[in-house]
Amino acid sequence: MQAVKEALHVATTPSCGLVCRDDEQRRVFEFCKACVQQERAGSLYVCGCPGTGKTLSISKVKQSVSRWADEMGMETPDDLSINCTNLGNTSDIFGKILEKFQVRKKASGKLSPLQQLQRMFSHKESAPRRMLLVVVDEMDYLITRDRAVLHDLFMLTTHQFSRCILIGIANAIDLADRFLPKLESLNCKPLVITFRAYSKDQISNIINHRLKVLEYDVFEPMAIEFCARKVAAATGDMRKALGVCRSAVEIFESGLQDSSDKGAGVVTFDHMDIALSKVFRPAVVNNILCLPQHQQMVLCALANTFQHSRKKATTLGELNKSYIEICRSTQVPAVGMLEFSNMCMILSDQGYLKLGQSKEDKLRRVMLQIDISDITFAFKVRKDGLL
Ligand SMILES: Nc1ncnc2c1ncn2[C@@H]1O[C@H](COP(=O)(O)OP(=O)(O)OP(=O)(O)O)[C@@H](O)[C@H]1O
Ligand SMILES: [Mg+2]
Repeated sequence: MQAVKEALHVATTPSCGLVCRDDEQRRVFEFCKACVQQERAGSLYVCGCPGTGKTLSISKVKQSVSRWADEMGMETPDDLSINCTNLGNTSDIFGKILEKFQVRKKASGKLSPLQQLQRMFSHKESAPRRMLLVVVDEMDYLITRDRAVLHDLFMLTTHQFSRCILIGIANAIDLADRFLPKLESLNCKPLVITFRAYSKDQISNIINHRLKVLEYDVFEPMAIEFCARKVAAATGDMRKALGVCRSAVEIFESGLQDSSDKGAGVVTFDHMDIALSKVFRPAVVNNILCLPQHQQMVLCALANTFQHSRKKATTLGELNKSYIEICRSTQVPAVGMLEFSNMCMILSDQGYLKLGQSKEDKLRRVMLQIDISDITFAFKVRKDGLL
């Protein structure tokens, strides 16, 4: 099962190529190829929602470009990958690019790294001859109020002797639109390639493809279908789909430990169902699970009170009785009435219940403000150890 989890791990790069991103990869590859062949600079912007395979695809294209240039007997482009989340300052990106040209401090005077790059790319004598493929990932982090860094970065590909192929990657679909008008008027509009969210079929294809390295069937086909359908309907995020599958494997494993049947078996639809409900459970369920123990018991008491009756309200006194009952059955010492009514006030402030007014605390009306099913589901999750 370790091998299965590894094959499904986000950090594992599928060795046998990528499925479902052929077209996007081909377009990026063709773009880079044309730049290298014509020895010209260029820029490209890749966007799409999280987990749509942007980072992975571009890293594969980078390898393909090197391999292709090698096979053609051409000088392979130098390459540089920058993840903007690692930059202390947005403008540090220019220092990183400059480092690649191993420019010593000589003659740079007081010029900033950006100015040095601009000067270098504007003069034939100082411009590097070798092409440089720069991949700038998580580019959203470069957005400053005046967008100067982004703008200057793309402008580097417009200098007469620049040999930079710039590939920017970001989530924001409209990032290009927001800064493109200015770049367009300057005639350096990058080519935009959008990665669309994965469909159900693509997700199951990718999972099956990743599992091909194993020699046996680990999942019931229905289980993978179910995961793919749910994830595609939500966000189409492959990272999430892989996470759910790994979690289903763990649930399957814990089932093996509990039962006497240590036979082979497969990860079933039911295992996947539990794994999916962990990831896609409503926010309110997660919030309930984060409440202090006694507040959770109050909600449990409320759910018990309303579950089998048509009543929509009870009193603090009645609720307290039900709460004490739960404390007794779980052997947890109950808190006193004053503390109990304070807890109810906190739950009311957080929108779980509504408290009416009364001179006597015990007679205050209590109404549940959330769905009973969310409370019962939260306790099922807790009971099954699915936190
Ligand atoms: N076509 C695919 N084949 C195999 N695995 C894939 C594919 N697409 C995505 N994945 C897997 O899904 C995960 C997310 O992919 P990736 O990091 O490329 O997404 P991203 O689009 O860059 O997301 P983000 O916007 O969050 O950076 C990775 O673990 C990757 O291995
Ligand atoms: Mg990425």
